[in-house]
Amino acid sequence: MLAKIEVAFKELLTCLQAAKMYGTVHPMFQNSLEKAFAAFEDVFNDRQEIIIGIVGDELAYEKEIFFDLGKLLRPAILYLKERNIERLAFYRGLSKEELGKFVNVISGPKEEFKTDPQQLLVFAGIENINIGKLKVADKQDKGTAEFNQLNLYDSSMDKVAQVISSVLNLEKIDPRALKLSLNNIIDSLSVQRQELLKLATVKRYDVEVYVHMLNVAIFSMYFSSRLGFEKNDVLDIGVAALFHDIGKMYISRKTLHKPAQLSEQEFTRIKSHTVLGGEFMFKYVDTLGILPVVVSFEHHLKYDMSGYPRLPLLRKQHIASSIVAICDVYDALSQRRGYKQDYSPDVVYNIMNKDKGSSFNPGLLDKFFKFMGFWPIGSVVGLNDGSIALVREENEADIRRPKIEIISPQDKKRLVDLSQDSSLSIQRYLNPWKEGKEFLKIN
Ligand SMILES: [Fe+2]
Ligand SMILES: [Fe+2]
Repeated sequence: MLAKIEVAFKELLTCLQAAKMYGTVHPMFQNSLEKAFAAFEDVFNDRQEIIIGIVGDELAYEKEIFFDLGKLLRPAILYLKERNIERLAFYRGLSKEELGKFVNVISGPKEEFKTDPQQLLVFAGIENINIGKLKVADKQDKGTAEFNQLNLYDSSMDKVAQVISSVLNLEKIDPRALKLSLNNIIDSLSVQRQELLKLATVKRYDVEVYVHMLNVAIFSMYFSSRLGFEKNDVLDIGVAALFHDIGKMYISRKTLHKPAQLSEQEFTRIKSHTVLGGEFMFKYVDTLGILPVVVSFEHHLKYDMSGYPRLPLLRKQHIASSIVAICDVYDALSQRRGYKQDYSPDVVYNIMNKDKGSSFNPGLLDKFFKFMGFWPIGSVVGLNDGSIALVREENEADIRRPKIEIISPQDKKRLVDLSQDSSLSIQRYLNPWKEGKEFLKIN
């Protein structure tokens, strides 16, 4: 499937090239339009939509980055970025005429795209293509605090993408700029942690590839600062968390995302991302310090020292690695909520607590859920009296009884501190992309 999307996108760019060189009436253009359209049709046989994003300098499709393609297409990526286009969505039903018009529109001068690129498509009568900035799904709530946090999350995501893409190209990076942007996150966590944590636990990006890295960094910084680490240490842990899986970039995406059982050889290969990552971050030891090396290397070690890589000499995992290990598993399990196999927060909690003492440092894991809450902030939950509520603030003394806001039915709307009201309790979790979606909209 990925290969087909690559082909379609390449053909589209060839078509754009032809439009710029020969104009859109020339047979050369018609010819390439024909080819591009056929390639899109081919993809639409299997799916409803194709959403391609530009993150940093790379081209990405859902969870995949087209690294090789990215390099090849640098000029095209730049071209689109200059036109404020970092997200392209094509929908089934797209006609050849629409595709031709689209190419015609984007072959225009960049000045035209200054305001809202999508508007240009609307004027041209193109219905089945959408272009613009990358966005978080469900951006409907634009309350000020929340909106600022959304901007912060977005711009951090951009920064993360840039830094990771420079690191992968072995380019120099500016550690101060990176720390500054993580520092913004820390500041914001101390003022309005609810909103940012909510984004990290509930949002979904068009392009998910960097989400895990940023989320693990956010969770690790939040966790370590609540544990009482000094700000500089929190920053260092954040940087290390950001790069914990960098070694995975060296493992083929086929192996990483293989749905079926892995062979022993493939599993060994995946496990090697720890050692590869450690070695890789060693190249940045002068700029970023030793912690990213340690954490990349150790984040799959377990509390009881099983896990990998096998370390006959080491007897204890670095505290930063233990913190990242908890946040890593938490994010990986939580992100599955959006997919077929739903892991609601109670399931995540149970899975992780089963490994308390073996995988995870027990005291540390308890503290983690104390700070994060059993139901993360922003969760849509069903109460025992049938009403629906949003989780607003965690309660450290009793993690299952946070502060909530009842949002439905209308006549019951109010804030409730469950620790003060024993008549109410949380009974079920509503998936924010399925049955919970309509309630998030009310918010
Ligand atoms: Fe990992
Ligand atoms: Fe990870």
